[in-house]
Amino acid sequence: MFDTAVQQPAHLDDRDVARDRFDAIRQQTESLAANLTPEDQAIQSMPDASPTKWHLAHTSWFFETFILGPFDSGYRVFDPAFAYLFNSYYEAVGPRHPRPQRGLLSRPTVDAVGAYRDHVTTAILRLIERAGATTWGEVAPRLELGLHHEQQHQELILMDIKHVFSVNPLLPSYQAPRPYALATSAPTGWVEFAGGLCEIGHAGPGFAFDNEGPRHKVWLDPYRLASHPVSCGEYREFIADGGYRRAEFWLSDGWATAQQQGWQAPLYWQGEEGEWRLFTLSGERRIEPAEPVCHVSFYEADAFARWAGKRLPTEAEWEVAAELTSGGAPPAGNVADSGHFHPCPDASRAGADAGLRQMIGDVWEWTASPYIAYPRFRPVAGAIGEYNGKFMSNQMVLRGGAAVTPADHIRITYRNFFPPSARWAFSGLRLAEDA
Ligand SMILES: [Fe+2]
Repeated sequence: MFDTAVQQPAHLDDRDVARDRFDAIRQQTESLAANLTPEDQAIQSMPDASPTKWHLAHTSWFFETFILGPFDSGYRVFDPAFAYLFNSYYEAVGPRHPRPQRGLLSRPTVDAVGAYRDHVTTAILRLIERAGATTWGEVAPRLELGLHHEQQHQELILMDIKHVFSVNPLLPSYQAPRPYALATSAPTGWVEFAGGLCEIGHAGPGFAFDNEGPRHKVWLDPYRLASHPVSCGEYREFIADGGYRRAEFWLSDGWATAQQQGWQAPLYWQGEEGEWRLFTLSGERRIEPAEPVCHVSFYEADAFARWAGKRLPTEAEWEVAAELTSGGAPPAGNVADSGHFHPCPDASRAGADAGLRQMIGDVWEWTASPYIAYPRFRPVAGAIGEYNGKFMSNQMVLRGGAAVTPADHIRITYRNFFPPSARWAFSGLRLAEDA
């Protein structure tokens, strides 16, 4: 149950593969929403988060706008008003409903959004079956992008509903807790890498987002990575040592943000020293010292590393280490498919000789790298080019996927990104040091 092998999907050129994968991912999204009432699905608890209902509609809008509109001449738009309501950020496609006001949409209802999803799903399945060879050649890569887009929104549905439930005094549970192997905290080991002239970035085969390429050379001085992500127990020591009260550990912007927001612990931690409680998708409970700390901002991750006398790894250090230790095997870890929707302790903790553990899954790991273009990166032409490239400022890269990331969505080269103050993603950290 703990280690879910991550199988990279077969390529979608084959129509049978495309149909099965499309069916499975659309159904998976709907099964995530099935735990929720219509009232749950309509709420927006902060400007960054979106209602479940909006995610369900927006992922359908993506297929409608980028595949059915341009490639299916017989397609009948479900409701022309939805283009305004469910466009997220595509300037080239037209104006849109303001993001902070997505929670004000009592209409369309959850039922109407369900009918929209069915309408789009049926039309895409028909297109997969009937498109001519030339059209299919153009549709297949967009379908693959649309499915990875929908999987990103599956993770967002869980992130966002966790925040919605966390601000409800009743602290509702999204699901019952699942049993996992408990582990005692062992000292973190260190794994050394020689560095030198290395390569990072996606080189195929298989799907990757445009921001993962081109593959290119980087120079790395010798370095070490911690065997495990930082645990709740270790993070508790940082808090107890005045981590949130001592400016010397913090970047200037981070200190200002922490003061202004009143941060005293990670998001979803409640209580005080010695008695910390944690809100999860399975309700509130005591913190588990051996589990990776989660829901920290880049600023907190960086301050913790400074307190520990270490630093965050760069994304190149992370990727080279992950590639070397994977040995080409499919990456494995506690991802969404294991069903916990929360990071777990590493039950195999074997001390300093364990090698790198939990690189994939559990928590997205903040890196020291700004989210910028790789050398020779060019966004594709047109609206699809807005997918990743236009966000390349004022954000930091995270690596490795989390306990809410679908298994066949994550790759070693995958670059996630959030503003340095963001805490509602399942984000943690792993320490690095110079060798
Ligand atoms: Fe989206």
